Amino acid sequence: MKKELILKKCNKCDTLIKIIKKDTSIICCEEEMHIVKPNSVDASFEKHIPTYTVSGNKITVCVNHVMDIDHYIEFITMITDNKEETYYFNPNDKLEVQFEYIKGSKLYSYCNKHGLWVCEVK
Ligand SMILES: [Fe+2]
Repeated sequence: MKKELILKKCNKCDTLIKIIKKDTSIICCEEEMHIVKPNSVDASFEKHIPTYTVSGNKITVCVNHVMDIDHYIEFITMITDNKEETYYFNPNDKLEVQFEYIKGSKLYSYCNKHGLWVCEVK
């Protein structure tokens, strides 16, 4: 599966956008928005990377991360070549979601402080 979640962020105002097709230069706050690279922030891998357990045709996805008011996982996304599903979370929410089990799909988590993290479903 080749499809990826491509996000761009503004360093000044924290605006976050998703690129659906064709990456191009996008200006926000008079600066070019930068691509959010997954697994690239210097933070605990174990506390940000999505983990999953398989049960039949479903997976239950968790992230071992705090859900504090000022530091939490904002969303978890599952992507295949032709499907994308996102669940959004608020502080204090239970950080768990179910998706269809699809080998090769990608699971993304997005921390409001430590950015984007990804793993592949085996
Ligand atoms: Fe974090």
